[in-house]
Amino acid sequence: HRHLLGIEQLSQSDITTLLDLADTYAERNRQPNKHSDALRGLTQINMFFENSTRTQASFEIAGKRLGADVMNMAMQASSIKKGETLIDTAMTLNAMHPDLLVVRHPQSGAVDLLAQKVNCAVLNAGDGRHEHPTQALLDALTIRRAKGRLHRLSIAICGDIAHSRVARSNILLLGKMENRIRLVGPPTLMPSQIDQFGVEVFDDMKKGLEGVDVVMMLRLQKERMDGGFIPSEREYYHRYGLDAEKLAHASPDAIVMHPGPMNRGVEIDGTLADDINRSVIQDQVEMGVAVRMAAMDLLARNHVAAQPSVA
Ligand code: CP
Repeated sequence: HRHLLGIEQLSQSDITTLLDLADTYAERNRQPNKHSDALRGLTQINMFFENSTRTQASFEIAGKRLGADVMNMAMQASSIKKGETLIDTAMTLNAMHPDLLVVRHPQSGAVDLLAQKVNCAVLNAGDGRHEHPTQALLDALTIRRAKGRLHRLSIAICGDIAHSRVARSNILLLGKMENRIRLVGPPTLMPSQIDQFGVEVFDDMKKGLEGVDVVMMLRLQKERMDGGFIPSEREYYHRYGLDAEKLAHASPDAIVMHPGPMNRGVEIDGTLADDINRSVIQDQVEMGVAVRMAAMDLLARNHVAAQPSVA
């Protein structure tokens, strides 16, 4: 692959190859010397048109650990503010010969469009409600390490599915790896074309969590609700917030996940989120660096191989 735009384009074997490499980086990241030369001499530019803590920090750390020259574009201070378009901005940066562009954008499809215009490898760091492929890959690695496998698991994805690129990428990835997926949440927060996903749908948390191996919570994404469905947080927590009582319906060794940023007391009980016997939320963050190292390493190998040789 030239780019990493979504899970949609990846095969089961692409996913396994990437997770296997990420596993080796996860081990290396726990050693005192975390550095390698995999991206030495390459230039990575991070362009985040939407807020981020985890994704931006981990892509920057990942690039630096692999020896890339990493530049973070401060989009708030860029000429986007003077009316320059996304494509003109990308073409301007493209003319500086970057090797890797990491892009987050509020509009679905914006990153795919940009990838068609530039010469370098593009990694989607989240586009609108479309895809967040590295999030699904880091979730998959976290599940595989906690459960010892990534197939034939029963996985509940809970909450605001309709507005979630994380849910969409996870449904695609976990489906490709042959897991049973349940979507749990209010009908108003379910995507309209739910049938195409091959999942079971529940609007009752206790029924939806019955016997599952993995409980994946999502944030209420008010920034994408267009003034539509905004539930009272208290009522939402009562019905759909994960606490010990609702979790008791899942398998006794079920793990609890949340991509972050989380709203304690809205979609998840704070004590449960911090319970290291059940919650793998910090592992997800740790695996984020490893997965992004693996993704950039693999793309850079293809990218360098595709360059014309200098006579
Ligand atoms: N999970 C995630 O994408 O978090 P950030 O928005 O902080 O990057």
